[in-house]
Amino acid sequence: MSGKEDVLSQQLAYYRARAQEYDESVQQRGRFSAPGMPDVDREWHHVASTLQALPRVQTALELACGTGLWTKILLTISDSLVAVDGAQEMLDVNQAKLGSSRVTYRLSDLFNWKATEDYDLVFFAFWISHVPEDLLIDHFVEVAKSVKPGGRLFILDEPQGGKQLSGPTDKGEQTRTLYSGDTYRIVKVYLDPDAVAAKLKPLGFKDIHVWHGDYYFYINAVKSA
Ligand SMILES: C[S@@+](CC[C@H](N)C(=O)[O-])C[C@H]1O[C@@H](n2cnc3c(N)ncnc32)[C@H](O)[C@@H]1O
Repeated sequence: MSGKEDVLSQQLAYYRARAQEYDESVQQRGRFSAPGMPDVDREWHHVASTLQALPRVQTALELACGTGLWTKILLTISDSLVAVDGAQEMLDVNQAKLGSSRVTYRLSDLFNWKATEDYDLVFFAFWISHVPEDLLIDHFVEVAKSVKPGGRLFILDEPQGGKQLSGPTDKGEQTRTLYSGDTYRIVKVYLDPDAVAAKLKPLGFKDIHVWHGDYYFYINAVKSA
C-alpha cells in the first residue's frame, strides 16, 4: 500500500470509528463540551439558512453525508435524497436519526465512485478538504456529471487562510485522535474557495457564487442547461 493509499484507508477507518462520537464532537457537547464559539455558530446558521432557502427540488444527492447534520436540512428542500458515505457506521447513525423513507442510503468509497445518475441538487460538506489535491479534478468531473443541466451544486468546507477550526495541517495531512485515544492520519487541505470555484467553470457551471466566512465557505453554482 502506498503512503497515500494508507492515509486514505486510515481516513475511512477514522470516520467509521468516529461515527458514534461525531455529533458530540462537532457540536462540542457531552464528552467534548467546550466554551461556546458564537462566531462559529453564526456562520453555521448562515450556511444552514442559505441551504434551507434554496428552491425546492425533486431529487438531491449528498456525498459524504456523515451522521446527517446536513441531510436533515436537505430533506426539507427535496422530495427524495440519495445519501452516500464510505462508512456504514455513519449511514447507520444518519438513518437512525432521520428515519425517513425519502432517503436512500448508499455505501460507497468516493475515491472509486462514478456518477451513474444525475440530480437537481448535489451537496457535500467538509468532504473535499479530505480529498488529496491531485485527485480533486477527477472527482469534480464525476461530481459535474451527477448534476442535471440546470441543476445546482452546493459545496461547504473550511477555507485556506481562515481560522482553521480543524487545527493545523502538515503537508495536507493531520493526525486525528478519537475519545478512546486512538490516532489516525487523514487528509486535510484548507481550500482556496476562489480556486475551487475556478475549477467548476470549465466543467459547465455558471452563476458561481462564493461566500467567504472566517471559518467556513460555500460555493453555490448552477450547471448550464
Ligand atoms: C468531516 S465528515 C463530514 C460529514 C458530513 N458531511 C457533515 O458535514 O457532517 C467526512 C465524511 O466523509 C466520509 N468519508 C471519508 N472517507 C470516505 C471515502 N473514501 N468515501 C466515502 N466517504 C468517506 C466520512 O465517513 C465522513 O462521513
